[in-house]
This record gives sequence, structure tokens and C-alpha cells, in this order.
Amino acid sequence: METFIPHAPVGPVSREVPAVGYVHGYSEREAARLGDQADVLAELLHSGTRYPDGSRVLEVGCGVGAQTRHLVGHSPGARLVAVDRSAQSLAIARARVAEHAPGALVEWRQADLFALPFDEGAFDHVFVCFVLEHLADPADALERLRRVLRPGGSLTVIEGDHGSVFFHPDSAPARAVIDCQARLQAAAGGDASLGRRLLPLLEAAGFTDARVRPRTVYADRTREWLRAGFTRDTFVAAIASVRDEALAAGLATPDEWDLGIEQLRLAAAGEGTFHYTFFKAVARRLER
Ligand SMILES: C[S@@+](CC[C@H](N)C(=O)[O-])C[C@H]1O[C@@H](n2cnc3c(N)ncnc32)[C@H](O)[C@@H]1O
Repeated sequence: METFIPHAPVGPVSREVPAVGYVHGYSEREAARLGDQADVLAELLHSGTRYPDGSRVLEVGCGVGAQTRHLVGHSPGARLVAVDRSAQSLAIARARVAEHAPGALVEWRQADLFALPFDEGAFDHVFVCFVLEHLADPADALERLRRVLRPGGSLTVIEGDHGSVFFHPDSAPARAVIDCQARLQAAAGGDASLGRRLLPLLEAAGFTDARVRPRTVYADRTREWLRAGFTRDTFVAAIASVRDEALAAGLATPDEWDLGIEQLRLAAAGEGTFHYTFFKAVARRLER
């Protein structure tokens, strides 16, 4: 697959944006959105990720278990430890995995990835999805994940990049609402365009053999399931979910916001098309 070179974020970053927590929050709607996203993208994101029976695997930032269920589905014999700092998300994750994969070997732990309660070298593999893009110091996070890997163990990271978005019909108001979400994420310390930085981040954190590959979603009317599942119910839903925060931060007026969302929705209807690229990286901790 060819690598798409993302365009710059849309619009000038002029107004000061007050800091908020995790940009999408922890609501029931957000839990459902993460589940939709993981299910519709399961093959795209998880292909190539299989862990041997008996291997010790750590998933960091498991959230509501949206990826965890696919991890256990693809690697039913691995011994998975799933960590998140949110007790509320962990409870949902536990129930979700119990429902979809009863008997799965998962240990659930509430912990902060910057203070992981594990020994150095405790895991054969670490898996992280859509977490680094929300952190103020992803380089520090990667160093901490490297320490809990055994020498030679692998890290898999999947992150998005909002710079990779383009769609038809193109619309400046629609691009502006996407930019509002990216600015809110930046104000909370994150980077909605982190995907393109994975290779330098991994190398700076001391990983070896790092390779990053694009995983592209392109949806049009010939792939209605993807258009509904990804464009409408995942991407547009994620942008639409930050309306209150964007308005409170003065990033858009209610009319500007509503027009932008309305025009963005056209990418999932009629002759509309939508493109997004995720980046998936695999790297190893150096052998001793
Ligand atoms: C966008 S969600 C992604 C969840 C899941 N990986 C997925 O793909 O659906 C980010 C998750 O990272 C968790 N998180 C953020 N910072 C964290 C930290 N410092 N330690 C542990 N978890 C963290 C959040 O609580 C949230 O559940």
C-alpha cells in the first residue's frame, strides 16, 4: 500500500484553547463509539498481530475493551493483562470481553501507564492503540513500555492521524470542525496527528527494528458497511461529540459548528467519499 502524505491541519491555530481531560470523555456514547470503531476496523488494524500461546501480553489503555476482544480473539492462548487508569472503563471492558469471549485469559488492572505496577521485562509483547495521541509526553510513555518488555520483546502501536483526512464533497466548514477537535485534543496535551511521528518516537525511546505501515480506510457507496461503520458512526461521531467543548472554548459559533457537521455528514451519503489513514508500528526492545 502506498504511503499517503498527510496535509497540514486545517486553519490557523490562533485562539487559546482551555485544557480539557481525555478529549472524547467516558460517556456511554463514547464507549459505544469505541466499540463500533474497533469492530469495523478489526481486520484492518489487527491483521498481522498474533501472539503465541502462553506468551505474556500487556495491553495499555484498554479503555472499554474494544481492542481487547479482538486481541483475545486472535490470540486465545496468550496470557493478557489489560490496563487502564479508568475504573469505569475497565468494568465495561471486563463485561464486554466476558460476553464475547467467555473464558478468555485476561487479567484486568487499574493503573497509570506512567507508574506501571510490573517488573522490568515482565512481558513478551505490549499492545497500545489510540492512547499515545492523547498523552502530553508520548516519548516518556514509550520508554516506560520498553522497560516492562523483555529484551527482544515486541511493542505494537496503532495511532490515527487527522492530517490524513480528505473527503468528497470537500467543505471548508467541515474541515474547520475537524480542526476544532484537533485543537481541543492539543489543549488537553495530545496530538491528533501523532501517527506520522511514530517512527521517530519509537527510535528516540530506544526501540529497535521499528517499522511503521499505513492502514488506510477509504469508504464510498460501494462499501456501505464501512461508510456507516467508520465514516458516520466512528469519525463523524467523534467530531460531533466535542460540540459543547468546542463552543465553550470559542472555537466555533453554534451555526458554524452545525453547518460543519452537516457538511461532513455528506461524506457518508449519496456520492460522498471519505479517506483516513491509521499508522501501525511494530518495534522490539533491544536484546541484552
Ligand atoms: C481513545 S481511548 C482508547 C481505548 C482503546 N485502546 C481502544 O482502542 O478502543 C484511550 C484510553 O487510554 C486511557 N489512558 C489515557 N491515559 C492513560 C494513562 N496515563 N494510563 C492508563 N490509561 C490511560 C484512557 O483512560 C482511555 O481509556
